[in-house]
Amino acid sequence: MTETKVYGHRGSMGDYPENTLLGFHEAIRQGVDGIELDVHMTKDGEIVVIHDETLDRTTDGTGFIKDLTLNEIKQYSAGGNKYEHFSKFDSASWSVEQVPTLKEVLELLKPYNIELNIELKTYVFNYEGIEEKILSLVESYGNGRKTIYSSFHLPSILRIKELNPAAEIAWLLNQSVPLLQDYLNELQIDALHIEKNLVLTNVHQWKDLYDKIRVWTVNGNDEMKQLLDLKVNTIMTDFPEKALFFKSERKAFV
Ligand code: G3P
Ligand code: MG
Repeated sequence: MTETKVYGHRGSMGDYPENTLLGFHEAIRQGVDGIELDVHMTKDGEIVVIHDETLDRTTDGTGFIKDLTLNEIKQYSAGGNKYEHFSKFDSASWSVEQVPTLKEVLELLKPYNIELNIELKTYVFNYEGIEEKILSLVESYGNGRKTIYSSFHLPSILRIKELNPAAEIAWLLNQSVPLLQDYLNELQIDALHIEKNLVLTNVHQWKDLYDKIRVWTVNGNDEMKQLLDLKVNTIMTDFPEKALFFKSERKAFV
């Protein structure tokens, strides 16, 4: 059984602005095995990396991504005053961060041999054609890296699989679904991305699926250690540096 991987959730959002090039760069510097990011589609059909449907929470702009062009979105800061309560906040270097495109993130990752989880935020709006665009960007700029496409919205990942049967897809779950193995077999779902409490409240129930589950968002010390010991496939965390420390601690005693 292989050891658990550590993915930086939205980069390293516990310490740096989420879903920014700065945050991804920091996660890589800390030594993550992969990063998780979220994508939406702009009015002019560009794929951008941001968690919410709107700019409001994470930038100094407002409005729905689907109603704004990429140029309009690029006017705003994704690392400005909203992050001033972060201990590492540095106004000069953070405020120049913008909402990145998926292409920009793929370019940033190019030199690094790490995995990428693209979460398609397709459960609120129907971004027509988003799956084709994402696959095409990864094909052009992904450098052959292991890429996992995940979504809470099952049709999105099934479209990905239909468009590219070799693509790895994962279903995101925050509530329990009976007879999960049947979904995996029947729909050719490669992995499950599970909210941590679903796993931690009943670890035994998941024992046959540990190698197929990535667990989010694992930030507490004890839960990190427990999931590393269970050898789930991956933990996604806002604090990758800490998780990597616990992981290295375990390796030292093997
Ligand atoms: O992909 C795992 C996790 O990111 C799902 O929740 O809301 O943080 O995107 P959220
Ligand atoms: Mg996400």
